[in-house]
Amino acid sequence: MAPAPEPALDLRRALEARVGSWAARVEHHDTLGSTNDRLRSLAVAGAPEWTVVSASRQTQGRGRLGRRWISPPGNLHLSVLLRPPRGTELGILPLAAGLVVAEAVRARGAPAQVKWPNDVLVGDRKLAGVLAEAQSAGGAVEWVCLGIGVNLAAAAVEFGALAASRVSLAELVQQPPAPAELAADVLVRLREAVRELVSGQVAPLLGRWRALSVAWWGEPVEVEQGATTLRGRARDVDEDGALRLELADGRVERVVSGDARRLRPLPAAAD
Ligand code: BTN
Repeated sequence: MAPAPEPALDLRRALEARVGSWAARVEHHDTLGSTNDRLRSLAVAGAPEWTVVSASRQTQGRGRLGRRWISPPGNLHLSVLLRPPRGTELGILPLAAGLVVAEAVRARGAPAQVKWPNDVLVGDRKLAGVLAEAQSAGGAVEWVCLGIGVNLAAAAVEFGALAASRVSLAELVQQPPAPAELAADVLVRLREAVRELVSGQVAPLLGRWRALSVAWWGEPVEVEQGATTLRGRARDVDEDGALRLELADGRVERVVSGDARRLRPLPAAAD
């Protein structure tokens, strides 16, 4: 039998200290395979929106594009359920999630930026990521599970071969928050962002996203999409969250998913 979840008192208290009440269930586990997997099963069983699952550590943490997400104790592992009404511009949702995480850690003193679609970086190193998983029926999205991972306290050694490309909040600020405090910061900001999205206010969110984006506009980038890799110049992000990529022949391709990275221009050849 699976161990009973720990009471999620810290997170609920942190949420209610910020917004008065949080109607949906808030679950915290010491150890889970993946908070997204747990939340997905609650979603299928009919859990209401804003149901939250967190875990101190994950044994099967999942990243985007089928990658593993290293999930040691002390980091933040959080999943939240959304049931957006029909007509909501869902392409922006993953960007909005990355944005609110970046804003929450910036409010704690970390100079975080966002990178399309939803990575949170400090310099070239990844501080946080978002895994959005959705279920549709009859052409409409029934629910979205937004999984958020923040490297909060992990030491470089815990990232193994990825150490050079990862950073923890504890390396960046003098007093890193407890996971429950940062989770509450993120959830409250996310709730506000989702309200804006649902009411059709995409432009202000995109404006905030652009203001925190890595400054790669006009630069050569590549976007990995499983077996395919696209190369071009990053031009902008559309109102539906697609990356506008100008290809070598001048055509502009709208890219809706993938993992993007800037290509460093080759140094000019010496005479
Ligand atoms: C990425 O690859 O950038 C996305 C990482 C998302 C990790 C989080 S941690 C909480 C939730 N549970 C998971 O298994 N993954 C997400």
